[in-house]
Amino acid sequence: MTDNQAFKRYRNNVDLIYQDILARDGGKPPAEFIQCSQSEMGSADLSTDVYTSREIHDLEFETMWNHTWQMACREHAVAEPGTYSVYDIGKYSVIVVRGNDKKLRGFINSCPHRGTRLCDGWGNLQRIRCAFHGFSWELEGTLKEVPCSWDFPQVDSDNFGLPEALVGTWGGFVFINLDPDAKPLSEYLGRLPEHFQRWPMEDRYVASHVGKYIDCNWKVVIEAFLETLHVIGLHPESLKFFGDINSQYDVWEDEEYFSRMINPSGITSPHLKNRANDETVLTAAKEFGLCDPAATLDQSNTPRHLIA
Ligand code: FES
Ligand SMILES: [Fe+2]
Repeated sequence: MTDNQAFKRYRNNVDLIYQDILARDGGKPPAEFIQCSQSEMGSADLSTDVYTSREIHDLEFETMWNHTWQMACREHAVAEPGTYSVYDIGKYSVIVVRGNDKKLRGFINSCPHRGTRLCDGWGNLQRIRCAFHGFSWELEGTLKEVPCSWDFPQVDSDNFGLPEALVGTWGGFVFINLDPDAKPLSEYLGRLPEHFQRWPMEDRYVASHVGKYIDCNWKVVIEAFLETLHVIGLHPESLKFFGDINSQYDVWEDEEYFSRMINPSGITSPHLKNRANDETVLTAAKEFGLCDPAATLDQSNTPRHLIA
């Protein structure tokens, strides 16, 4: 990030960049909002191999998925002793379960006897029992029962607990890490929690969960949600109240694990050459559920104030 050509293009071509909009809003924006990394990631084409190559996929598992913290479920899904939720990533699977001691643990979802998958989905357990030969474990991971244990002289019950992944929580999310030597979640998150101080994620709940399997490399999906370039094509109805290309992207040199995109709402997209007036912006934002349907404009506010 030595060169900030991308930021210059943004500055020179977008009439109001995100920071201009903040300044125009008045007041004192939170410190995180006025940070601007002016990052530059280059414009060179990526090799299509990153989406199609088995070798790169394997390398991602070896160097990333096996070592990184990843969100496994919400805490409320595993709030009571015995509740569990299974998290799958590639060929790996972890059972997040709340023990009778109230502690959250993550067990490798593979039977230490012959490798059978132990659990699926989510629900309630009194113990973890393998469907194949019936070995079972306590919710805290210690071996509970081995059928015909007389014929397993080699099984030392003290050393036959379920192997664990690391577990951490932040903002009501449960994270797991497959690397026993990984740095703690709190270190990994860096300054991210500061950015969410105004929006305590632990106070949120899942009202509905809709999932869809998409037959593609994971990056194809993630990247589709990380750019605002698609708004004009896919949901142009948002342009009236959404500053798609006024958005700011930040990649910080001292933050290894998170970057961000911030989008301004309550402003018309620069794509609409004749900017909508404030009433039109507010009506469009209300239709989209972005603000109180009863909100009204007066001299002291703008659609941005009402949405915020
Ligand atoms: S494979 Fe699980 S008890 Fe045999
Ligand atoms: Fe979208």
